[in-house]
Amino acid sequence: MNPVRIGILGLGTVGTGTLTVLERNAEEISRRTGCPIVVRKAAVKHLSKSRAPIVDRIELTDNPWQVVESADIDIVVELIGGEQPAYDYVAGALQNGKHVVTANKELIAVRGNELFEFAQRQSLVIGFEAAVGGGISIIKAIREGLAGNRIQSLVGIINGTSNYILTGMKEMQASFDEILKQAQEKGYAEADPAFDVEGVDAVHKISILASIAFGIPLQSIENIYRGGIGEITYEDICYAEELGYRIKPLAIAKHAEQGIEVRVHPSLVPHQRLLAKVDGVMNAVLVTGDAVGRTLYYGAGAGSEPTASAVVADLVDVVRASKTEPDGRVPPLAFRPGPASSCPMLPMSKVVSANYLRMHAINQAGVLADVTKILGNHEISIESIIQKSSGVHEDMVPVVIVTQETQEENIAAAVEQIEDLNTVVGRIIRIRINELS
Ligand SMILES: NC(=O)c1ccc[n+]([C@@H]2O[C@H](COP(=O)([O-])OP(=O)(O)OC[C@H]3O[C@@H](n4cnc5c(N)ncnc54)[C@H](OP(=O)(O)O)[C@@H]3O)[C@@H](O)[C@H]2O)c1
Repeated sequence: MNPVRIGILGLGTVGTGTLTVLERNAEEISRRTGCPIVVRKAAVKHLSKSRAPIVDRIELTDNPWQVVESADIDIVVELIGGEQPAYDYVAGALQNGKHVVTANKELIAVRGNELFEFAQRQSLVIGFEAAVGGGISIIKAIREGLAGNRIQSLVGIINGTSNYILTGMKEMQASFDEILKQAQEKGYAEADPAFDVEGVDAVHKISILASIAFGIPLQSIENIYRGGIGEITYEDICYAEELGYRIKPLAIAKHAEQGIEVRVHPSLVPHQRLLAKVDGVMNAVLVTGDAVGRTLYYGAGAGSEPTASAVVADLVDVVRASKTEPDGRVPPLAFRPGPASSCPMLPMSKVVSANYLRMHAINQAGVLADVTKILGNHEISIESIIQKSSGVHEDMVPVVIVTQETQEENIAAAVEQIEDLNTVVGRIIRIRINELS
């Protein structure tokens, strides 16, 4: 049994976890693949950095091309992150006839279409299970386990940092900034948290899941609607609770009759739903198929060994696939190359949802009548209204309105007009409601 030889680019959180899992579970892994997997070489950026003792047994270089072009390596594992220079190394590995495993959602979401096409021409495999949902095998579940279904929708909490912050705000009765700072201290949020809290990371991931679920090419990131969690206050969390909801950072992909919706934004979710109970850094994805009904996948969406679990599973798959004819392999994006789904993408303006609106209004008669008149003019029905007796300032009252379902373009136009009223102060906070029904 000749060993399969791998080279790793990046020995940070996930790279070190991958070394650990490969070493600790070597026997089980080789019984699954039929041969041992050995790490021949790894590349890092800073050779002088102090590292976990397990790294001492690996030959290190600070030149990734020495891994990518090495004749001694069969599979390159890319764990650097970001689009560049990761793209150059992955493309270089494919050019050098090596299979690739990566945990890099940005790379797959942004450059995946071309990388998969190139890999297919070379009869090579790219594994990317760890790119979405960390340790949860969500890609394999949709691509293989649900292959008999028409997937109807995916609704997921797939950014642990945003979920940690919203959960922390609720539990600690604290502001966004306070919990973000705490998340950074605990290593759950980057020094620059924009990618996570503004929804970019979740957009990368839902683009990948939508492609696998619906047989569409990976969408240009700019075409996916994205809303962050930065405007949500502790006040909103309390009002949502009062109304029977939790606020969750949702990524949504839906195959509706009129078209395919793909979007990322915080949403109010009924508190009795399982997704509402997914707290902290945990991830979960609710997948609905026409045959299977609802299925829920839950687990650690990040972390050293949970993510390594998915990386190593991909390695096992790649070793197995490398022993089969290319035509018999599982297509990376679930569907065989050919005509993509003809279903159009639905523009965000046509998406339908109920909405939570919070505003501060001047405490005088007739204000609510003006607001409800504008909503009525846009054919938006009101489900409920909460008006508190006093707000932060005595002359103003917080008003929360829950609307029934309406198209985005209607509610956006109505909100703009309400904000123009002299009696409404500042911006209106709007959060969509997803009943998950
Ligand atoms: N962390 C998670 O929980 C998690 C979960 C799911 C997916 N992912 C994905 O996994 C990938 C790796 O994430 P991570 O958290 O392990 O990152 P990380 O801890 O920042 O590690 C990155 C590694 O890449 C090396 N590196 C950076 N630039 C390089 C370059 N130009 N040449 C060679 N090596 C370079 C770094 O070297 P030095 O050590 O010398 O600095 C480091 O070892 C990313 O795509 C990430 O999105 C991470």
